[in-house]
Amino acid sequence: MELYDAISKRRITRDFQDKTVPEEVLERIINAGLQAPTHDHLRNWEFVILKDKQDKKKALQFIKKGVEPQLEILKQILVNGTAQQKMYAVAMPRQYSMLYNAPYVILPFFKSNFGVMHPTSVSSLNPISSIWCVIENIFLAATAEGLACSMRIPVGEEGQKVANIVEAPEDYLLPCYIGLGYAADNEPLVEQIEYTAKQKIHFGKW
Ligand SMILES: Cc1cc2nc3c(=O)[nH]c(=O)nc-3n(C[C@H](O)[C@H](O)[C@H](O)COP(=O)(O)O)c2cc1C
Repeated sequence: MELYDAISKRRITRDFQDKTVPEEVLERIINAGLQAPTHDHLRNWEFVILKDKQDKKKALQFIKKGVEPQLEILKQILVNGTAQQKMYAVAMPRQYSMLYNAPYVILPFFKSNFGVMHPTSVSSLNPISSIWCVIENIFLAATAEGLACSMRIPVGEEGQKVANIVEAPEDYLLPCYIGLGYAADNEPLVEQIEYTAKQKIHFGKW
């Protein structure tokens, strides 16, 4: 697939087919992630892959608790909300299933340091900026393979709890969970706000 095709076809997916993904495909996608730019030349990234139901259940157990209280409110905004509210109304009820039902859950860990949690400038956040380059490469490679990804950001203590369950070292942080698989044919289309470069470019000054 052409790069521009992969970029325009990439969508966050929250419903997957019950179809396995070969391990060599997973490896190609992770290799694409590992070729992302890195702030320190060290590529201090590690990937925990969950594919067994029991492992997924254990690592994903903290999601439901955070999401349940929001579900009732969300039912109403699906009817007459903004595009952003409608996105939440589709996304929130699927936060668990979009990972549990994916053939693979990728947990992309990055090595943190004091500056990440106590930033004094934008550059303090370089470790987190680098891992997001990795994550975008994973999304695009998955798209090029005919696959799709779901993604959730852990909230509050959730990330730390997941890291403990999978026995990640203390200085490695989890920026998000990624579900990887084949998108379901009938997944709901989430309305997007779209822009073109012409609307966003400022030559010389803003
Ligand atoms: C930093 C970031 C955090 C996000 N957090 C979540 C999340 O916790 N749960 C979720 O379902 N989607 C999450 N998303 C996905 C967005 O909802 C999605 O990217 C957005 O609606 C645009 O849709 P698209 O990716 O299909 O173009 C997140 C995306 C980004 C970039």
